[in-house]
Amino acid sequence: MSNIAVVGMQWGDEGKGKVTDLLTPAFDIVARYQGGNNAGHTVFVKGKKIVLHLIPSGILHENKLCIIGNGVVVNPRAFLEEVEQLERLGIKVDNNIVISKNAQLILPYHSSIEEITEKIRGDKKIGTTCKGIGPSYVDKTARQGIKTGDLLNEDVLRSKVEQNVKLKNIILAHFQSPLFEAEEIIKECLYYRDRIGKYLQDVSCLLEKKIGEGKSILFEGAQGTLLDIDHGTYPYVTSSNSTSGGVCTGLGVSPDKIDHVIGIAKAYTTRVGSGPFPTEISGSAGKHLQKKGDEFGATTGRPRRCGWIDTFALKYAARINGIKKVVLTKPDVLDELEEIKIGIGYSYKDSSLDCFPTESWVLEDVKPEYKTIKGWKKSIHRIKDGRSLPESFLDYVKIIEDLIQAEVVMISTGAEREDTVFFKDKMNEFIDLNKITDRPDIPGINNAS
Ligand code: GDP
Ligand code: IMO
Ligand code: MG
Repeated sequence: MSNIAVVGMQWGDEGKGKVTDLLTPAFDIVARYQGGNNAGHTVFVKGKKIVLHLIPSGILHENKLCIIGNGVVVNPRAFLEEVEQLERLGIKVDNNIVISKNAQLILPYHSSIEEITEKIRGDKKIGTTCKGIGPSYVDKTARQGIKTGDLLNEDVLRSKVEQNVKLKNIILAHFQSPLFEAEEIIKECLYYRDRIGKYLQDVSCLLEKKIGEGKSILFEGAQGTLLDIDHGTYPYVTSSNSTSGGVCTGLGVSPDKIDHVIGIAKAYTTRVGSGPFPTEISGSAGKHLQKKGDEFGATTGRPRRCGWIDTFALKYAARINGIKKVVLTKPDVLDELEEIKIGIGYSYKDSSLDCFPTESWVLEDVKPEYKTIKGWKKSIHRIKDGRSLPESFLDYVKIIEDLIQAEVVMISTGAEREDTVFFKDKMNEFIDLNKITDRPDIPGINNAS
């Protein structure tokens, strides 16, 4: 059985949550390898919206092990709130979640530092989620971070918290922000130890064992390729490797354990926060996509900027991640458009570029080149049978496949699990589709309906 990675190909919010939830029945384990509760992965089940931030989107299925890897930054408060949200739906999580002992903690001072940093950046601010993600990764790379595993050793925890609070308070005092008391944070951490200690394990070792037993894994990416700290549109990125390389470092698995990387691409492009966005649409067409696609951040509620699909960027994402198979999401949002633009390349200082530029100052100045096609002008919303898709829509899919040099293996036509067209012949090699039909209901939702 293959292990697959589900990776966003744009600036996040491509529909990774829906796809992960949909494919989970065919896997034994779902594992997050980076990011934190900056992610907002939406799953709709029978009209009920569930947003997962930190816990893998496989958690809605019984008996699937959900793993939070060492590459993730864990806010224990956010984690416990998410557990409560799931328990209210009748989902038992205790035996289904494992957190790496090597994952870094996000503690209250991280978001305070982030708020100050964003303020200082002024009009150059990144527009982060202010969840303390960046500052926690800063502490990790500065080798002063506190790991979840440190919660289990009170002496180590105490000395690390004292050192961190001392450092953070120097900055906070300078900006007249409220200071932190080390004792308070230690007390809070000991509370977390009592509640999340039971989830902590050596994830790399666990995965090695599970793989040896023949178990299969779905690696769930957060954010998207263009938000990757190394390969994204730096500095307007997140602070982790959201691309497929992050799977290995973020979970402690070797590259040969990733059999396929499945790219998730929205039929248009969105971006939350600041930064260059060559195919952004200003005016009413952009507003139409935002409204019809309900493009408001699942984590911060901020409106998402909208633009045309950018196959130049998607081709780049395919290269960086090793994507040959793509799930196309939300084309139903384009149903009513007379004309649809497809970004095919960029020119910069009057010459066409060969490669997607990752310098923000170049990207800010490129001129996108488009191919314009007529819209299909039929509703494809909630279509489940590929034979019902209009020819002109399939022509559009073919154009995209040719431009990004990867094949579309699934099309999502709505937010619910069922709103999906599978191209079975293209999926058989990496997934047992018979298992996908077995989608257990969620107790809390059944009771309500
Ligand atoms: P993620 O962060 O990649 O998991 O994506 P988000 O959950 O942040 O955003 C995707 C949004 O689109 C969610 O509200 C989904 O419910 C919704 N969605 C996913 N697939 C489709 C689709 O094919 N059509 C429509 N109309 N909505 C979809
Ligand atoms: P999912 O997993 C969309 C964006 C923020 C900001 C930048 C840095 O739902 O696709 P951060 O708080 O990570 O330091 O913010 O990254 N961002 C996302 N945009 N979807 C996400 O996650 C995002 N996570 C972070 O808006 O521009
Ligand atoms: Mg999201």
